[in-house]
Formats: sequence, C-alpha cells, structure tokens
Amino acid sequence: MDGLSRRDSLKLLSAGMAGLSLTAITGGNVDAQDKSSAPAFRGQHKPKPLGFDPSKLKGLSEKLIQSHWENNYGGAVRALNTLEQRLDTMMKEKDLPPFIYGPIKREELVRTGSVVLHEHYFDNLGGDGKAAGAVLGAINQWFGGYEQWASEFSRTVHTGELHNYWAWDHMHNAPTGLPLLVLDMYEHAFHMDYGAAAAKYVEAFMQNVKWEEVNRRYVAANKIHESLSK
Ligand SMILES: [Fe+2]
Repeated sequence: MDGLSRRDSLKLLSAGMAGLSLTAITGGNVDAQDKSSAPAFRGQHKPKPLGFDPSKLKGLSEKLIQSHWENNYGGAVRALNTLEQRLDTMMKEKDLPPFIYGPIKREELVRTGSVVLHEHYFDNLGGDGKAAGAVLGAINQWFGGYEQWASEFSRTVHTGELHNYWAWDHMHNAPTGLPLLVLDMYEHAFHMDYGAAAAKYVEAFMQNVKWEEVNRRYVAANKIHESLSK
C-alpha cells in the first residue's frame, strides 16, 4: 500500500470556473434551532439522502455504498457540525490566539470539501453509465471522443474549458469549484468490494454514472461561466 492509495484522492471532471457560496453548495441545511449563533457556525448540516436504491448498482454492493454514506460521508457531516460549533464557541473567547483558532478553521475546509465531494459523488451515481447530452458534446470537443476522455479519467484522475483533474485532498478546489463528475478513490469507497483492485472499482463506477446529473451540472456551469464572462 503506497502513500497515494492511503491518502485522499478524488478524480474530477471539472469546469474550472468561479465558485459558489458554501451555503449554496451544501444545500443550506441550516435551521433555526440555535438563534444565538451566526448561520455559518450553527453546525446543523444534515446528510443528503441517497438519490438511488443502493441495492441496484452494478458491481458496487449495497453494504459498501451504505457504509460509505453512513460512516464516511455521514462522518464528514457530523465533523463539520462539531467544528462549526467549536468555532462559534472560540469566537466568543476574546483573547483566543489565532494559532489555536487556525487549525480548527483548516479542518472546517477539509470537512466541507468532504461533504461537498461526497454529495457530488453520490449524486452522480445511480445511472446507466451512458454519456449523453451537452456534456458529451463538450467531451467530444475537448478530448476527441468519449473513449479518450474515459481513458484519461481512469488513468489520472479554467476558464470554461473541460478537463479531468485529480485532487489530493478535500481542501483543493472542491468547495468553491464546479465539479461535474466526481469519483471517490479513497480506499473506503471500494476496499470492501474490491480489496486493492482499484481499477476494477473504477470500471464498476463508470457503469453506474448518472450522466443526466453530470449533464445538468455542465449546463448549469456553462450558464454561470457565461454570466461571469460578460
Ligand atoms: Fe468517500
């Protein structure tokens, strides 16, 4: 097991464009239970339910998906809530030095990235794996065809262009980027079904991609890009 396989690694088909607000991309899961805290620090995020039946995926077991959703994604949501509430408490300590506050702030971004990417990941599963729509046109335009794109996406994994990017951890790009297709390559995403055979997991993932969702993101990202380019 090398360092790469142990560490976070996520493959993103990404439109490198401007970001969205955190509230928008985390679904704005804020309720009014604690009015004494600012909305940014209430820590009331709730896990987003799976949009598909986890027993129906091809080559990915229900046990794997449920464990991933409950323990890893759910864990990130719970951690983010804890961190926000801790930040709220710390903000009220007037003499608290920045070097105590800083590491918690760093963790907030790591966990936010984990929540955002996991939601993208689960939302782009549950389909038939057949690329279609405007995003397929963009793939053809920028990669010369689906097979070329898929080949690079499987291997590696700004400005309105379409690229495959590989993110080392949850801090990079995700919270303010516009990922189109997210593949989780943490071992927790495949080890239960495939052991160390990560390539087989990638093959299974590709059979379950919900391209309707990827296309929806692509069209939405294009609109944002157009509005920012004026
Ligand atoms: Fe994960």
